[in-house]
Amino acid sequence: QGKEGEVVLVPDAEGALGCVLLGGGDDSDRFSCSIVGGLPGKLPPGPYEFSGALTGQFDAALFWGLGAYRFDRYKSGDEKERPLLKLSEEVDQEALYNILSAVYLGRDLINTPANDLGPDLYEAEIEAFTAAHDAKMSVVKGEALLSDNFPLVHAVGRAAAQEPRLIDLRWAPDVKGGDRSSLPQVTLVGKGICFDTGGLNLKPGNAMNLMKKDMGGSATALSVAAMVMGANLPIALRVLLPIAENNISGNAFRPGDVLPSRKGLTVEIDNTDAEGRLVLADALAFADEEPVDLLLCFATLTGAARVGLGPDLPPFYTDCDQFAARLDEASQLVADPLWRMPFWDRYDQWLNSKIADVNHVSNGPFAGSITAALFLRRFVERAACFAHFDIYGWTPSELPGKPFGGEPQTARAVFAYLAETYGV
Ligand code: BES
Ligand code: MN
Ligand code: ZN
Repeated sequence: QGKEGEVVLVPDAEGALGCVLLGGGDDSDRFSCSIVGGLPGKLPPGPYEFSGALTGQFDAALFWGLGAYRFDRYKSGDEKERPLLKLSEEVDQEALYNILSAVYLGRDLINTPANDLGPDLYEAEIEAFTAAHDAKMSVVKGEALLSDNFPLVHAVGRAAAQEPRLIDLRWAPDVKGGDRSSLPQVTLVGKGICFDTGGLNLKPGNAMNLMKKDMGGSATALSVAAMVMGANLPIALRVLLPIAENNISGNAFRPGDVLPSRKGLTVEIDNTDAEGRLVLADALAFADEEPVDLLLCFATLTGAARVGLGPDLPPFYTDCDQFAARLDEASQLVADPLWRMPFWDRYDQWLNSKIADVNHVSNGPFAGSITAALFLRRFVERAACFAHFDIYGWTPSELPGKPFGGEPQTARAVFAYLAETYGV
């Protein structure tokens, strides 16, 4: 019947595989190209190419590649033979591999369990990434977080065996004549909680199972950065990643504590499981100390975002209408979905604290993703445009082009926006 995504293997005269038919859906809709992502998982090994008048050769190859990803780091035994796509001449291979390798990087980082990606090894990965891209990186870690005024990053991560840290990565393209100061400044901030036990407000077993993915925001920021650098976009890029493990020990931060923050606001701690917004608050305040054209924050921040929109549709928050509209267009164009939600001003007062400048969670059960976003916004004043993405970072049941597991959601959409806005 040719239903969307339906696959039929058609034999040739000898009974071998002659061709494959893929049900198409609505041709005018570019989202439909994503169904190609279901093919690599369904086809027997061997060479394939697209035949006939396929409109989006690039998109088809991209979704094939997105669907062909496997996380096999811990699987012993020989690698299985796979279906292979022969690329059509008209596909820009460099652009294709740039996006694919960046998404694979994000997925690999999220999929790697916390025993192999604690703060120490994560820093080493980022150092290798920095060197490969000719970027510059600096790190503030452990006790230095206190003397350099990142008290919230320190508080969240200090109970873990591996020290919390803030990674600051900068990159700019080689500009002829050397004037980098005229480039637009784009800063990405990403939540890098290598594992989230919940802290003293310990998560129950089931809720903790997936928490290796709580560094998904930082992986997404790195994925965007990889695309930007690979495409040599003319922007000055900065990536700020607070990295920590939220764990328990005698020196863990506690509910009821009042902590200073980089910005100077005192923060009353209500629930140590709302740790992401704390490390991000210091990183955002730091980012906001220099003039920034676009400040983007990525984080696996709340369970409430999943309750609202489910795992496949990450909400984002911004006061910049033009950015929101153009990002939405980019998102649809590259089939990387997201959904704007409001910084609803009236809920801001739900963060008021009786004894401190601000509480990091709202005292009621409502609008948890919005109030988390509002908390972050309190730490950003100067950036010309600020947006926050509350991502899930994970595909719980496989979709075409999205294998089970880690996913740097919104990275391709954000890159498409940046390329469209700043590209030459
Ligand atoms: N990392 C979690 C949020 C999360 C949980 C994202 C599950 C995706 C899946 C975050 O640190 C957290 O625990 N948030 C709490 C906040 C609450 C204590 C105010 C939450 O959402 O329950
Ligand atoms: Mn938590
Ligand atoms: Zn968390």
